[in-house]
Amino acid sequence: MTDFRSYASLKLKCDMRPVVLTGPNGAGKTNLLEAISFLLPGRGLRRARLTDVTRSDARDVLPGGMRWAIAATLDTATGPTEIGTGFEATAEGEDGGRRVSRMNGAPARSQSAIGQVLSVVWLVPDMDRLFMEGAAARRRFLDRLVAAFDAAHTARLNEYEQAMRERTRLLRDDRTGLRAVDAKWVSALEKRMAESGIALAAARRVFVQRLAAACQLGVGPFPAAAISLVGDAEGWLENRSALEAEDLFRDSLASSRAADREAGRALTGPHRSDIDVVNIRKNRPAAGCSTGEQKALLISIVLAHARLVSLDRATAPLLLMDEIAAHLDSDRRSALFDEICAVGAQAWMTGTDPEVFEAFGDRAQYFRVDCATVRGV
Ligand SMILES: Nc1ncnc2c1ncn2[C@@H]1O[C@H](COP(=O)(O)OP(=O)(O)O)[C@@H](O)[C@H]1O
Ligand SMILES: [Mg+2]
Repeated sequence: MTDFRSYASLKLKCDMRPVVLTGPNGAGKTNLLEAISFLLPGRGLRRARLTDVTRSDARDVLPGGMRWAIAATLDTATGPTEIGTGFEATAEGEDGGRRVSRMNGAPARSQSAIGQVLSVVWLVPDMDRLFMEGAAARRRFLDRLVAAFDAAHTARLNEYEQAMRERTRLLRDDRTGLRAVDAKWVSALEKRMAESGIALAAARRVFVQRLAAACQLGVGPFPAAAISLVGDAEGWLENRSALEAEDLFRDSLASSRAADREAGRALTGPHRSDIDVVNIRKNRPAAGCSTGEQKALLISIVLAHARLVSLDRATAPLLLMDEIAAHLDSDRRSALFDEICAVGAQAWMTGTDPEVFEAFGDRAQYFRVDCATVRGV
């Protein structure tokens, strides 16, 4: 990577084993995980803006016209694959640039092209409150898990959100709601929302059924979890075909135009769905569990998911686990490391203290991060 966050330039060579990154606060550990998360379309694990991650001391645009760039060679089931992404400096683009992605030397064919060779799931300290806060963060977590399972999911999500944004804008601009041309256009957008939205909800539904089965068992000392989806879209799909559900969604959009115009957003649809997680043994909703238990539930879900993806796609997702190990007791730590190795996932784990990772032994590879430089130990 070049000119990304605190890194002027970094080249890291590693093998297939999990990667342990240790170093003092501010060394650049999370930045490195964030760079990996940027290999996929989206805003990465900090949900940063493209301009925020440009190294602040970077003096000039890089050769090739980029402000920052990240590339990786992946060892995939079908052989080595080169992927890369960056922020291309353009005069007219938003903040003077636009995101570009490449695969094997050519522009990536579609958003899902990269998702077909790489899936990345992360757990970061910010997610400690995932079960306590609003549904948006849980939905993002869910959709990332689904995308790791089904590469077309991201495109579906974008299609839906784009149609929804256009409809909201149109409703806002036509405050009287009387213009016939706009009404036709709104109907067309509602049709697009219904098609992509029900496809989105159906993909989540299929996925959650499988994930729920996997999570019911728990993983070693990590708690068994019951997971279900809740929301209007889930109700429409209950005992109905996708086409019938689309009709219901379209009717509901058509009849809530006035309310949506007033609210400035669509009040119903899969963008309002949520996941409900229950700690099975305690028979307690995740939000009512202790902070430590909530974290253990999240780890349990991520491990069950990794196992599911590795069975389905013959490759486990990359796991980015920022400062996870330090907060686990030694039993759970060992179980986490064992499961990562058993699934064959390349987990990238950070911590300030290398001792915490001792149970990995030589099953992992170790790097020391200091002042945005990385060296093997
Ligand atoms: N755009 C940027 N340009 C240069 N440095 C940055 C940028 N964004 C963050 N940093 C620096 O990166 C460092 C934090 O790195 P981080 O990876 O979060 O540390 P840690 O090792 O504790 O996880 C801070 O010193 C911060 O100032
Ligand atoms: Mg950090």
